[in-house]
Amino acid sequence: MNFDLTEEQKAVRDAARDFAQNVLKPGVIERDTKQIFPTEEVKQLGELGFMGMMVDPKYGGSGMDTLSYVLAMEEISKVDASTSVCMSVNNSLVCWGLEKYGTEEQKQKYLVPLAKGEKIGAFCLSEPEAGSDATSQRTTAEDKGDYYLLNGTKNWITNGGTASTYIVIAQTNPELGHRGINALIVEKGMEGFEVGAKEDKLGIRGSDTHTLLFNDVKVPKENRIGEDGFGFKFAMKTLSGGRIGIAAQALGIAGGAYELALAYSTERKAFGKPISQHQAIAFKLADMATEIEAAKMLVYKAALDKDLGRNFDQSSAMAKLYASKVAMEQTVEAVQIHGGYGYVKEYHVERLMRDAKITQIYEGTSEIQKIVISRSILKD
Ligand code: CAA
Repeated sequence: MNFDLTEEQKAVRDAARDFAQNVLKPGVIERDTKQIFPTEEVKQLGELGFMGMMVDPKYGGSGMDTLSYVLAMEEISKVDASTSVCMSVNNSLVCWGLEKYGTEEQKQKYLVPLAKGEKIGAFCLSEPEAGSDATSQRTTAEDKGDYYLLNGTKNWITNGGTASTYIVIAQTNPELGHRGINALIVEKGMEGFEVGAKEDKLGIRGSDTHTLLFNDVKVPKENRIGEDGFGFKFAMKTLSGGRIGIAAQALGIAGGAYELALAYSTERKAFGKPISQHQAIAFKLADMATEIEAAKMLVYKAALDKDLGRNFDQSSAMAKLYASKVAMEQTVEAVQIHGGYGYVKEYHVERLMRDAKITQIYEGTSEIQKIVISRSILKD
């Protein structure tokens, strides 16, 4: 495995770092505190080509590889995971699936504005009673000939209020189980589609998480992605790629906390010398650096698998499982190194610690990743 970055990849990483430090950082505490969605910042991400990074330029994207996407996610997540989750959902869960499985008409109509960052997308799988158990969809898409009649409720939908284009997973034929599920493109403004309550969250508080309500929404047949009954496999395949994005987010959160802890520990003095010179802190830094490096290898490996056309179901699940654990553990350590300063908003690490937790929950909990990994191992 060669992870030596090309000049192009380095330029993407540097541009993302510059954007995160200079554009995102100044307002990140206020957006977190007041739960403000980063509207202007996401618009600028679109102008940088970061909202459709892997999409072919002929559909308005940047035509980059997955490793470039991971590098950008990592740098942006070091500062602002609320912005990076919006970016991740748009890139991996919406644009990727549309480009891979959509019709030419769907790509022209929906993918192009999403990839350019002119519109934002959302991926709607979770329900009040179907989170981890994704085959138990209660939302129904009744086949009415030339349209589907959509009814149901979706929960915890990232970009729920700000999106214009929603990929909604729903059950058409319950007798067929997962083979009766479809993925439909729903537009904001369709009659019967309502954006419900916004969640008040522990972390990623600048992101826009909503309940969505569908009440007799008529979705044209041409808005179905793939063959009839392909919706569950579409969701699983799309989520495998999405897990690389969230693994990169977790890696970035851990890396951001580490960089802050390192800088703080070389400046802050106690007992006559910088605290980094005390073994108790130096060993923490050594552990943090090692864990983050190990997570990075798994995340980059998953990106490489995808770029090389290999199966990435197992490697993306491993990357997400490990990187999210590292994010959680190492942000706690970063707060500890900061002492009392770590517990107040001004020093940023308490936010990173709160943001880290969601990476162990969304796009499949850690337990779900273990199901995917163990099934993959036992199948071999
Ligand atoms: N690619 C293609 N097909 C796949 C697949 C994959 N990665 N994984 C499973 N399938 C297929 C299986 O082959 C099977 O098809 P066949 O019967 O034809 O062989 C079918 O899908 C059903 O698979 P399983 O029997 O394995 O299904 P299961 O009910 O046991 O569930 C699961 C598997 C892995 C637990 C799955 O339900 C899952 O991933 N759950 C978690 C859902 C999730 O991640 N939700 C997050 C919501 S999205 C989100 O968080 C976005 C956000 O806002 C940030």
